[in-house]
Amino acid sequence: MKYSRILGTGSYLPEKVLHNTDMEKLVDTSDEWIRERTGIEQRHIAADDETTLDLAEKAARNAIDAAGINSNDIDLIVIATTTPDCVFPSVASMLQARLGITNESPAFDIQAVCAGFAYALGVADNFIRGGSASVVLVIGAETFSRILNWKDRNTCVLFGDGAGAVVLGEDDKPGIHSTHLHADGRYKDLLHVPNGVSRGYDVMQQQEAFVQMRGNEVFRMAVTKLREVVEEALKANQMDKSDIDWLVPHQANIRIIQATARKLNMSMDRVVLTVQNHGNTSAASIPLALDTAVRDGRIQRGEKLLLEGFGGGFTWGAALVTY
Ligand code: ACO
Repeated sequence: MKYSRILGTGSYLPEKVLHNTDMEKLVDTSDEWIRERTGIEQRHIAADDETTLDLAEKAARNAIDAAGINSNDIDLIVIATTTPDCVFPSVASMLQARLGITNESPAFDIQAVCAGFAYALGVADNFIRGGSASVVLVIGAETFSRILNWKDRNTCVLFGDGAGAVVLGEDDKPGIHSTHLHADGRYKDLLHVPNGVSRGYDVMQQQEAFVQMRGNEVFRMAVTKLREVVEEALKANQMDKSDIDWLVPHQANIRIIQATARKLNMSMDRVVLTVQNHGNTSAASIPLALDTAVRDGRIQRGEKLLLEGFGGGFTWGAALVTY
């Protein structure tokens, strides 16, 4: 049997920081409201000339260094992003060139919004298990600030920019025990950017080019579906809640994270929490949290991690991993 294992992690946050007090100057909000309702204290925003590819490259180089591999060992790149630089080519293709990879291995983007990293990890894991790849660079990278309406207090206070990466390598034991991916397209109107390329470029300047969310309803679905998917992951591996050392969740809202931790009977000191530092970075948030806790020494080799995320679509997913 072939499995995939995390060889190294990396991440990157842009230099510019907007604190909640900066948001008070943009919209009718308060530091207190944002902290209480979301746990967010600040978010990072890409510079005008900085793109998703730039963020992805920095996270990738950190992960490649940590994994101790040569870039040309990578035989697949999968990038989860909702905010690519171009309609085409994919960010993954452009990153392959930037990293100097000339082995003609495949590279592509996937789009599952905030569940994007869980999806990318699932795809990469299946490539390795199926024997189609042996060293995979998996990235979540977003410049979500570009699709925010900075006059809409319901959304603009919640999101930020960033990138996180892992290098997966083939191994004879897991590694990634299982991934669990789901979608339900009936809820598209609760969380979406309602327009895009195929509907015409003109509208891209209008309101419809930005994130719209019915936060309360999204919140309720996120809590329910994340509870279900963590149960599903445990059951699939015949593991108990107590077997999990760390919950590494998508960082959208501290209250959603607390609800999942309660379901797992986990105290919050076993939950990797980074939402306060960067807000919701969509597909980047799980690998950002993972890299943070690996680098500060909390997550140790051999420990069991439960990764989970929920996003627009709706899409959601989880992965059970031995680090
Ligand atoms: N500052 C001050 N007041 C605000 C703000 C703000 N920034 N935003 C909204 N409010 C107001 C609302 O207008 C409302 O006022 P009203 O009662 O006078 O109408 C009040 O606060 C309460 O609004 P709710 O929407 O009920 O607030 P809630 O407690 O649900 O918190 C939040 C809102 C933070 C958005 C929450 O619902 C949430 O986190 N939802 C889930 C987000 C998520 O997980 N998304 C999925 C991933 S994102 C992706 O895939 C792209």
